[in-house]
Amino acid sequence: MIGRAGYTVLLLAMTSSASHALDGEQSRGKALLQTLCSRCHAVGQTGTSPHPDAPPFRSFGDDKLYDEDFAERLQAGLSTIHPDMPTFQFNRADAEAVVNYLKAIQVRPKAK
Ligand code: HEC
Repeated sequence: MIGRAGYTVLLLAMTSSASHALDGEQSRGKALLQTLCSRCHAVGQTGTSPHPDAPPFRSFGDDKLYDEDFAERLQAGLSTIHPDMPTFQFNRADAEAVVNYLKAIQVRPKAK
């Protein structure tokens, strides 16, 4: 027999393929980004960035930025040439949580 907890897990698994339900690690990644980055970037699946030049995280695209490289950049210290963008450094677990969240929210361009 499947207990209440098992039932919840099953429901979550079903939702996540249909919409963008986040698993625990992705939620942690989101929380980190909300703390560190949300004063400039739109972190969620909707909304505009508070900083006019900062791209919303969901718009980066998942092929280039969010592979192994990006997780490594987060650990090495993420910086850009933009003077408003501070440098951040993540440990490995945090970097992976952030990347998993970002992957989950990417808005894929319509097929050409
Ligand atoms: C003080 C404002 C500010 C904060 C805080 C900030 N950003 Fe940015 N970020 C920017 C701006 C502005 C740009 C656009 C830079 C440009 O294109 O010149 C940018 C660009 C980026 C880019 C794309 C450029 C690249 O190097 O690939 C990434 C990725 C990024 N930010 C990630 C983050 C993450 C992750 C955090 C939080 C850990 C964060 N940013 C926090 C302002 C900010």
